[in-house]
Amino acid sequence: MSVQDRIRYTSLHSRLMSAAQAATLIHHEANVGMSGFTGACYPKVLPQAIADLARAEHDAGRPYKINVWTGASTAPECDGALAEAHAINQRLPFNSDRIMRQEINNGDVNFIDMHLSHVAQQAEFGFLGHMDVAIIEVVAITEDGMLIPSTGIGNNQTWLNMADKVILEVNMGMPIQVEGMHDVYQNNALPPHRSPININRADDRIGTPYLKVDLNKVVAIVESNAPDRDNVFSEPDDKSKQIAEYIVDFLSHEIKQGRLPKEMLPIQSGVGNVANAVLAGLLTGPFENLYGYTEVLQDGMLDLLRAGKMVTASATAISLSAKAFQDFVDNIDFYRERIILRSLEISNHPEIIRRLGIIAMNSMIEADIYGNINSTHVMGTSMMNGIGGSGDFTRNSFLNFFVTPSTAKDDKISCIVPMVSHVDHTEHDTQIIVTEQGLADLRGLAPRQRAKVVIDKCAHPAYRDQLHDYYDRALKTAKGIHTPHILTEALSWHEHFLKTGSMKM
Ligand code: COA
Repeated sequence: MSVQDRIRYTSLHSRLMSAAQAATLIHHEANVGMSGFTGACYPKVLPQAIADLARAEHDAGRPYKINVWTGASTAPECDGALAEAHAINQRLPFNSDRIMRQEINNGDVNFIDMHLSHVAQQAEFGFLGHMDVAIIEVVAITEDGMLIPSTGIGNNQTWLNMADKVILEVNMGMPIQVEGMHDVYQNNALPPHRSPININRADDRIGTPYLKVDLNKVVAIVESNAPDRDNVFSEPDDKSKQIAEYIVDFLSHEIKQGRLPKEMLPIQSGVGNVANAVLAGLLTGPFENLYGYTEVLQDGMLDLLRAGKMVTASATAISLSAKAFQDFVDNIDFYRERIILRSLEISNHPEIIRRLGIIAMNSMIEADIYGNINSTHVMGTSMMNGIGGSGDFTRNSFLNFFVTPSTAKDDKISCIVPMVSHVDHTEHDTQIIVTEQGLADLRGLAPRQRAKVVIDKCAHPAYRDQLHDYYDRALKTAKGIHTPHILTEALSWHEHFLKTGSMKM
């Protein structure tokens, strides 16, 4: 099959060109909306051509930097290539690439870390500026000019609506049989003209399988042939397995208490190894007929679908290891019946998350004794990845869990601290914190009650006394003791780590 065969709207054939030619259509300081979500569906060849262009411009003494907006993270050949070429001024809303992270943390890139569900609407409100170009990966263009999305949707429909010019990457390496898996719903009426989004079950479909674009805006079509990022997961270690066990036991208990229906409620699972291990725990757990309503579908959820434990999974992208992706391709008819890929603003929409009663499970960097959560910053100042959709799901969920091993870096860092060095989720949002030490159920507890539970259940034994000591002294010395703190000492654990390499006092 040639790329022409995948561009079934034949008058578009004339717009086929090389990535290098297409890159010249993107000017310095352009706002560029790209496809891309957690290592899936990002453009595979154009970013490298833009990076080459940026290098050539810099060598000629001319400035060249663009602003890149996506759905979420991409991959080394996209974010990595652009960051290495110093081709980015502004980046939003999420990144997990190592080189881009360096550029963010050394001040070269202005990174805007946003709740993912806010991005499309803030762009539509005009809060982020004008969009010059959209670069969107698709698997094909239909006879009537509709776009078949690839392994994710993210903010693609919004970018296609907003951009002056559109460049399409047709990825020959992606299976054409994904056609029919997507559900693109356009809800871009602005307040006060919005109406309810009619999703009442995790598997409801309310849109069309295609992205729409004004074909007059398509200035270039580029061929690519490359897989998505290989999202390799480590086998769940003992700590992750223990965390998963606490969660499964807790959910079973909630069902026994009559607070959760027997078939549970739809599950959202965050990114990372621990989150994947929790899904592995559900595979052997007692629950049947599960539903997924999540942001990104990773290996663990594919396993649940294959095993028949999960009925359907709704997400905005499929982000798999190479091995799981092969299974996905080999059994694509099976998975097309069971997977629904939606626009990011729908997969993460507060209205739907509340209505469906989602059980949210996300990893974190650290929690404090009162339940404030840091998901994004290492030692208060260095960006890790971003808040992603964790806030969208946590605040609006039926139940939410935050998980982490109790320590990091060979126990030199306690992930339970007196005060978090950056706050992403406040104590008002957090319900349940889980480490390999135990599970702290904070529902219905006031700050002083929370502190005791968090320390006793979740802190590593090497830090428990140190935390109790801090809390006891805060209780004795703070002026007000609703949330006891010693302000001059609250962040001293982080400072001590930066000075000595350990949080142990
Ligand atoms: N202080 C400093 N570093 C810490 C730390 C802490 N308290 N806790 C963990 N780390 C380090 C680890 O040592 C590891 O470092 P390394 O990469 O040098 O090995 C790194 O952070 C990742 O930790 P790990 O335990 O492997 O976590 P993970 O893969 O489960 O990822 C997050 C954890 C928080 C980084 C990740 O889940 C994330 O980016 N979350 C925010 C976005 C989100 O929740 N998205 C989901 C919404 S759908």
